[in-house]
Amino acid sequence: MNQETKSFYDSLADDYHLIFAGWKKSAKRQGQILAGILKGIGCKPPAEILDCSCGIGTQAIGLALQGYNVLRTDLSPKSILRAKKETRRFGVKIEYRTASFQELPAVMGKQVDAAIACDNSLPHLLTDKSLFVALRNIQAVIGPGGVFLASIRDYDAILESKPNVTQRMKLESGRKQSFSFQEWIWKKKAHVYTLNHFILKKSGFRNIAWLMPNQSGFYQPIVVGFKNK
Ligand SMILES: C[S@@+](CC[C@H](N)C(=O)[O-])C[C@H]1O[C@@H](n2cnc3c(N)ncnc32)[C@H](O)[C@@H]1O
Repeated sequence: MNQETKSFYDSLADDYHLIFAGWKKSAKRQGQILAGILKGIGCKPPAEILDCSCGIGTQAIGLALQGYNVLRTDLSPKSILRAKKETRRFGVKIEYRTASFQELPAVMGKQVDAAIACDNSLPHLLTDKSLFVALRNIQAVIGPGGVFLASIRDYDAILESKPNVTQRMKLESGRKQSFSFQEWIWKKKAHVYTLNHFILKKSGFRNIAWLMPNQSGFYQPIVVGFKNK
């Protein structure tokens, strides 16, 4: 499955920004919101943050702009290449490595104060076992007392209606206009969309809590879990 996900994000890397209307502004805004949450739980700049599904860098760049020391990893080499370009454009400094969640401890070789995996990265892991391994590996690269934040689509609401397409987004850049949307083809047994706290607890994170968009201002629900001291 990693190979399929990697090819998908490699092919999307040049266009990933089109998912957001105004990607640059969104990167700044998401960085502000995530920094607010991190500061609120005692993780202040210049703490070291690992974005372990950094993609083209939306949240990583946003957090670097807020004064955090950011490291980033991702499965998709092309997304990492694009992220490097975007980082230069924003004038921030960030370290990169290509790595899947499964490879994190070996590739990182050190621990950070916090880790993030935003934009619905974890649901790419389609079995409980792969999710469990990923969470254990993420936990292994977080230092004692550190924190993990993941933002995930609100699947409780989605499963009620099982939409086949996402809302169309209109994007405008100068005189150019484009639209972005996703088609969702549901499998009869849609268990791949099931995500719950049970897995997170089993993987060792504690004090797990959800921050819904109306509480955080972030566009997706965020799950927060702490590592034992
Ligand atoms: C929806 S994108 C989010 C990208 C990023 N947060 C951003 O905004 O630019 C999901 C990301 O998760 C990464 N990903 C998916 N499965 C992964 C895995 N097993 N290990 C590491 N990264 C993974 C993908 O390569 C992709 O870049």
